[in-house]
Amino acid sequence: MSEIDPILIGKGENLQFLLPSFGNRHGLITGATGTGKTVTLQILAEGFSRIGVPVFLADVKGDLAGLSQPISPHPKIDERLEKIGIEEFSPSGWPVVFWDLFGNSGHPVRTTISEMGPLLLANLLELNDTQEGILNIAFRIADEQGLLLLDLEDLRALLRFVAENAKLFSKQYGNVSSASVAAIQRRLLVLDQQGAENFFGEPALELADIQRVDFNGRGVINVLAADKLIHKPRLYATFLLWLLSELFEELPEVGDPEKPRMVFFFDEAHLLFDHAPKALLQKVEQVVRLIRSKGVGVFFVTQNPLDVPDTVLGQLGNRIQHAMRAYTPREQKAIRAAAQTFRTNPNLDTEKAFTQMGVGEALVSTLQAKGVPGMVDHTLIRPPTSRIGPVTEKERDDIRTRSPVGSRYDETLDRESAAEILQERADKTAKEIQNTDAAGKKERSKPKAKPRSTRQSPTEAAVKSFLRSMSTTLGREIMRGILGVIKKG
Ligand SMILES: Nc1ncnc2c1ncn2[C@@H]1O[C@H](COP(=O)(O)OP(=O)(O)O)[C@@H](O)[C@H]1O
Ligand SMILES: [Mg+2]
Repeated sequence: MSEIDPILIGKGENLQFLLPSFGNRHGLITGATGTGKTVTLQILAEGFSRIGVPVFLADVKGDLAGLSQPISPHPKIDERLEKIGIEEFSPSGWPVVFWDLFGNSGHPVRTTISEMGPLLLANLLELNDTQEGILNIAFRIADEQGLLLLDLEDLRALLRFVAENAKLFSKQYGNVSSASVAAIQRRLLVLDQQGAENFFGEPALELADIQRVDFNGRGVINVLAADKLIHKPRLYATFLLWLLSELFEELPEVGDPEKPRMVFFFDEAHLLFDHAPKALLQKVEQVVRLIRSKGVGVFFVTQNPLDVPDTVLGQLGNRIQHAMRAYTPREQKAIRAAAQTFRTNPNLDTEKAFTQMGVGEALVSTLQAKGVPGMVDHTLIRPPTSRIGPVTEKERDDIRTRSPVGSRYDETLDRESAAEILQERADKTAKEIQNTDAAGKKERSKPKAKPRSTRQSPTEAAVKSFLRSMSTTLGREIMRGILGVIKKG
């Protein structure tokens, strides 16, 4: 059993809690528009922050920004508190850090092309198989040489190089047609027009900065402005998957933690799965499954549970499902399916409850002792201590100015100093790896020197001369993890 106070969700027949020790067993929040999903997400974020767990969430409508401000008194809130039996209630805001891929409503979030890797990038660019194949070849050429690509400009240079030497590379890696390279370059232009060029570059996001705890021991709640981002669903989905896989590759295993190390909320979760190619989907499922052991909890928020693939759905242990509409056959089917996933409660007609619940009420079942799902309970969800609704521009600015991490990200680096930073990080990584090797902690097979003939092949010569024009290298071959981001250490 957990030593840490459980997180109060609300009250049905019984008080309903989320047990921190099962916070990494993932969760699902569903319901039609206006049924209370966002507020539910809000009270969970508060609950995790209270016990010192950092949170990352996407704020699709701007209303989660209210987490940073105290709630204003309201008779309806008092009524809810009384029904649930909450006696000690003090309105309060939480330690929020605002982020924004476009840098307007929060600190800019950036990564480098190399960090993102070919798999996610191909998805972002909506490449077809042939084009993806070529992107893979380009990354292989770069990765084998430990070449770090900073931004879209670097990627363009690499693609130009591949196209110019198409004949050479075709021999070694399979068909490289310049028409397909040109097609990729056109896709990069589209990405530029979407404003994504700001996303690639330095200073790249350091994961430690989203895993902070404030001086009162409360977990920082990272709020990603997603109101505009959501209109670029591919960018939205790719970004969240990138972040998740970065965490996955970087964090050590933790066994069974008494509370999660970090919790993620994916609003509009269907966007992660819509149109994603099967190969990518399988890898997403894999990361979601494996990230548990790194102490990371992932909560999917969506209108309809059918939006989430079965293999993922089956991994979501904690469920809070608000009312659903039952007009169309698909909706009725969804309700039947959802009702069946709950551990039944003899006092409750779950299917009926789905269509009859009021706003801010939900069917709740969380994992109990030994990881057994609790009996489903028709629950009145507790009110948040923070504001329900958005913040003013001034409130947002104030928080951004006082942010403990902001100064590091708010200025974009010019290419030259960005390349320097990338180089520094590469050197540091290379050194850490050497140290690990030296200490003999890990049996790491050193990259084997391939037997080489003394004469350079034309490919080698071409690659070398290209590399001289691109200076940032890791000094070893780049290895990639499940979703293709750089493997650390
Ligand atoms: N747990 C709750 N406590 C108090 N009010 C709530 C609660 N849940 C929902 N509400 C009320 O219902 C409104 C709609 O909820 P919201 O979470 O925005 O719905 P959704 O995200 O599903 O569209 C909120 O603005 C709030 O007034
Ligand atoms: Mg909402």
